[in-house]
Amino acid sequence: MSLAQRRILLGVSGGIAAYKSCELVRRLRDLGAEVRVVMTEGATHFVSATTFQALSGQPVRTSLWDAEAEAAMGHIELARWAERIIIAPASADLLARLAHGMANDLLTTVCLASAAPVYVAPAMNQQMWAHPAVQANIDTLRQRGVHLLGPASGDQACGDIGSGRMLEPLELREAIVASFGKPVLRGLKVVVSAGPTYEDIDPVRFIGNRSSGRMGFAVAEAAAQAGAEVTLVAGPVSLATPPGIARRVDVRSAVQMRDAVLAATPQADIYIGAAAVGDYRPAEVADHKLKKHDGAALELHLTENPDILATLAAQTVRPFLVGFAAETHDVARYARDKLQRKGLDMIAANQVGSGLGFEADDNALNLYWADGAAELARTSKTELARQLVTQVAERYRAVRG
Ligand code: C5P
Repeated sequence: MSLAQRRILLGVSGGIAAYKSCELVRRLRDLGAEVRVVMTEGATHFVSATTFQALSGQPVRTSLWDAEAEAAMGHIELARWAERIIIAPASADLLARLAHGMANDLLTTVCLASAAPVYVAPAMNQQMWAHPAVQANIDTLRQRGVHLLGPASGDQACGDIGSGRMLEPLELREAIVASFGKPVLRGLKVVVSAGPTYEDIDPVRFIGNRSSGRMGFAVAEAAAQAGAEVTLVAGPVSLATPPGIARRVDVRSAVQMRDAVLAATPQADIYIGAAAVGDYRPAEVADHKLKKHDGAALELHLTENPDILATLAAQTVRPFLVGFAAETHDVARYARDKLQRKGLDMIAANQVGSGLGFEADDNALNLYWADGAAELARTSKTELARQLVTQVAERYRAVRG
């Protein structure tokens, strides 16, 4: 079991079970997770922020209105940072506010602003738990995809016996570990290319494209999270290296990208070509800035770039090859054709021009392989990358054993 580099946001609301959440921080960190704690005002009456700060090794946030903390990591950043949000204990009040989409404190605001899956571990008196108002809120949250952890039955701090006890820290941790799925690429070496390529025209101009690199970076991160040793070959992007990446090689042009990929792939089991490689480059790169000439047209002679995927596909010993295809129409036909023409094992196709694709946060993909297909519905690029990696792992095992 590992939570290495996983980013877990622990929300603590007001309840006596908050003392058990101190233990939860310890247990999450034992498995390598990074934990940040957000407390409601109520929670601070049970356990001090200092306790959580010492246990998490991170500043603890208790208010939306703390200017200093907002300047360090604002609530939106915190919401984006989190891969999982677990609220333990989740009081009746917190559940009610979540169910109604309120944003009247930091924790509920972060929940609204985050795309991360939310887990709640209710803890309250058994009579309160059984109340129809609480149950209605739970139903609402469930329908909205919030995961319910517990509660358990047994002795309660108030002396009652019944349902409403928070699950034990180890049980909560187990649920979080399970939520990340299996290390399906453990022991495998994966090379991922990402981003655009820039083909220089002269010292100040280039031919490029609008790829942000986000999909490729998300794929690299998901592969690392699935246990692979990942080499990320990145075109010119302004993206931080995702956690868990073994090696990052920055390149600019298609030829540089091909060289970097060819250097990395002899040891690789899987190559995922998520880069938007430029098809052409200027035949010559001017060594000085090109000047205008009294309205005369400028002619650029372009040479075709090497096709990285096709180069790999032509090798006798080659990694499992996954390509991407961005199409504006007839996605299935063009993708299947590309799969065959380039000699790929799998192709991930998306329809661009419908608000999805290059610069969007969300994406949707259709996967094709020789004798099958799968559809990955629209979701965040992070989640989509995870699903893609799961499919790649499955196909890889099917073909290569
Ligand atoms: O042919 P097209 O550019 O649509 O194919 C896209 C797929 O091929 C992507 O996976 C991309 O990384 C890869 N590709 C490549 N080398 C090129 C052009 C595209 O590897 N020169």
